[in-house]
Parts: sequence; C-alpha cells; structure tokens
Amino acid sequence: MLPLLLLLLGSAHGLEKLDYTPTLARSTLGGLTTTSTFVLEQPRCIFTNVEDNIVIWLVVAVPEAIDNFNNSVGPGTPKRAFQRFPTSAPAYMTLNTTRINYPCTNTSGAITVLRVGSETSCTRDESRPTCNGPLPGPGPYRVKFLALEGSKPVAETNWSAPIPLRTAQQPSSIPVTGSGHSAGMIALTTILSILFAILLAGLVAMLVFRGSDTCGSSGSTFSKPEAVTVGRYNTHHVYDQPSARL
Ligand SMILES: *[C@@H]1O[C@H](CO)[C@@H](O)[C@H](O)[C@H]1NC(C)=O
Repeated sequence: MLPLLLLLLGSAHGLEKLDYTPTLARSTLGGLTTTSTFVLEQPRCIFTNVEDNIVIWLVVAVPEAIDNFNNSVGPGTPKRAFQRFPTSAPAYMTLNTTRINYPCTNTSGAITVLRVGSETSCTRDESRPTCNGPLPGPGPYRVKFLALEGSKPVAETNWSAPIPLRTAQQPSSIPVTGSGHSAGMIALTTILSILFAILLAGLVAMLVFRGSDTCGSSGSTFSKPEAVTVGRYNTHHVYDQPSARL
C-alpha cells in the first residue's frame, strides 16, 4: 500500500529521477578539461521515457547551489543566465536538445560527447542567456541533465561529482599555499641560495689561492694546486691536456 502511495505521489509530482550521473568523457586523447571548458559524455539512452518534443537541458551549477536547487526556475531567466553566472545566478542552463540527439543506437564515428564552454560568441550577449560560454573560473562545477515539458520539469539525472578545471599552473606540480608561495618554490630558492653561497666561497678561495700563487715564492705551499690553478699552473706536464680543454 505504501509503495503504491509513494508511486502515486511521485507521478503527481511528475519528476522522474533517472539513475544516471553525468561524467567527464572517457578519452585517452587528453584535453578533457581546459581552463574554461570540460567534456561530458552525452546522456545517451537515458531519457527513454520522455516524449520526443521534451527539451533536455544541461544545468551547470556551483556546488553550493545544488542542495536547494529549484528546477522550476526556467532556462533563460536571470537566475539561470550564463552571463550572470556565478555571481547573481548560481547556475545556468544550456545545450538544450531533444532525446533524438541522445539515441540508444550507436552509429560508429558519431560524436557522443558534449563540450561545455565552447561557445565564445555569446559570452557577454545578455540576449542569449542559454549561451554555452567559457566557464568563468577554475570551479569546481556540478552538472545534471534536466528535461522540461514547456516549463515543467519532467525528468532529471543525478548531479555529477564536482568538476574542477585546469588552472594556469598545474596544481599537482606547484602546490599553492594560502600565502601564495608554494613549498616547492621556497625549497628551490633555499637550494639555489646554498649553491650560490658555495659558488661564492669557491670563487673567494680561488682568488685567495691565486693571490698566494703570485706572491708566494714557489708552488710548494699549496696542498692541491691542480684543483684551483689548472688554467695557469703548468709546471707539471700531465696537466697540459686537461687545461687545454678547459
Ligand atoms: C534551445 O533554446 C533556444 C533558446 O531558448 C532556442 O532558440 C532553440 O531553438 C532551442 N534548441 C533546441 C534544439 O531545442
């Protein structure tokens, strides 16, 4: 009895929850995310119960917006306008199509992915609030597909996992801390400073030895003449070859 009641309530509400989670495209080609785009798998063979005339939208939201997300705020309204995202619109709706474009049959060679953020011509055009424009920052973003019959939500997928975009510096190679200086950068600077100090000490030592070479009466005062005076100190025959190469 209770399941039946829930079923009735569900159909009265009219929103079908599809057990599908949007995912980034599986590809070995790379470039699935850039600094302003990402590539999703098309939701093929998912919206099988909706009518042919129903329009399937992609919703792109900031993660904070999904808990109390209102499906009834329609595409093209100020709260869902690309140009206002993410400052005054917590989400936008784009890439509207019908299920005919997400078929079950897979014709080989067909494009089965969606590039989100690929349309640059409408980025600032307020008359095109459903623009598939470049994403405004590194994210992360969460997306879902929502089917609308007119303005009435009829079916939706789950929200995707958070999708972070690339930043100008790859976070994996240069971890950025709060102060803006990375640990790697500090380590590198330290190592370079030490190396520079050693080099400077060596240079000073060389000058000192050279000084004592010219002032001293003979070469017998040095412990290791070959180490510091190779260029000029040719008393010994075997040093001719290496010094010539230097
Ligand atoms: C998508 O929406 C735009 C604006 O609402 C409309 O002009 C266009 O015809 C729609 N395209 C499809 C395939 O539904």
